[in-house]
Amino acid sequence: VKFTVEDHDGNRQEIEAPDDMGLSLMEVLKASEYPVLATCGGMALCATCHVEVLEGEDELGDATDTELDQLENLPEYFPTSRLACQIRISPLMEGSVIKLRGEDN
Ligand code: FES
Repeated sequence: VKFTVEDHDGNRQEIEAPDDMGLSLMEVLKASEYPVLATCGGMALCATCHVEVLEGEDELGDATDTELDQLENLPEYFPTSRLACQIRISPLMEGSVIKLRGEDN
């Protein structure tokens, strides 16, 4: 599946990821060398993998309650904010646009 990632500087890049391996978006972002701390290792506990879905949010489904709890504790979050570790890479992500919003180290 191909989708677009916008970094903290506003630079966009299309990335391609396998959608049949059960990977999370957080894992793919890290593997693509984006600065995602993911301190909790994908347990929806640290919110350092915060992203904003700029396009394609309907296809990605709703955030879980656990996710929302974390997002609501952030100093700043957006109507389509998500935790990247809670998004599974699937064919539904085709064409979506994801903006990095977590701490960038
Ligand atoms: Fe910690 Fe996603 S990696 S909340």
